[in-house]
Amino acid sequence: MKIRNLLFSFSLIPLMFSLRADEDTPLEKQMQIMARSIKQLSGQIADPAKQQSIVTLMETLKQAASDAKGLDPRKAASVPQADRERFLADYRAQIDKLSAAFNQIEEAVSTGKYDQAKTLLSALGPIKKEGHTKFKQD
Ligand code: HEM
Repeated sequence: MKIRNLLFSFSLIPLMFSLRADEDTPLEKQMQIMARSIKQLSGQIADPAKQQSIVTLMETLKQAASDAKGLDPRKAASVPQADRERFLADYRAQIDKLSAAFNQIEEAVSTGKYDQAKTLLSALGPIKKEGHTKFKQD
């Protein structure tokens, strides 16, 4: 009997993990991809030997931003219907700012302007902060 209980408990473990994974919204998943890629990028940005890796990271970032633009923040559901369209348009405009910043970083790296790339990388902070303040649910 005890063994059966034990086996039953173990059988619940994958279920617990899958429930936890389901809690992430599709947008959160794209955000996590961006957060991971930016972290990696900041360790490589001024290293000419990391060019190929940087190119791949930039592609990942641009794709994640583009995917994020097509998704609605969780908070949209609690915005009054009359204001929702505006809220979503503002959200997508803020994502466009992020994509523009990624393009600038890519341009700086591809032309060997590493100091400029570093400055642009640190300018992502305020774009993120504004995005989270306005569009992330408390
Ligand atoms: C450098 C840029 C950014 C990074 C690294 C970043 C990172 C993150 C992270 C780590 C989360 C939490 C994910 C989780 O809970 O697992 C998050 C959530 C979120 N972020 Fe960002 N973010 C960035 C820019 C932005 C911008 C520009 C916007 C708005 C235009 C934005 C809107 C949101 C929203 C709305 C959520 C909550 C997800 C939801 O509502 O489903 N983020 N972000």
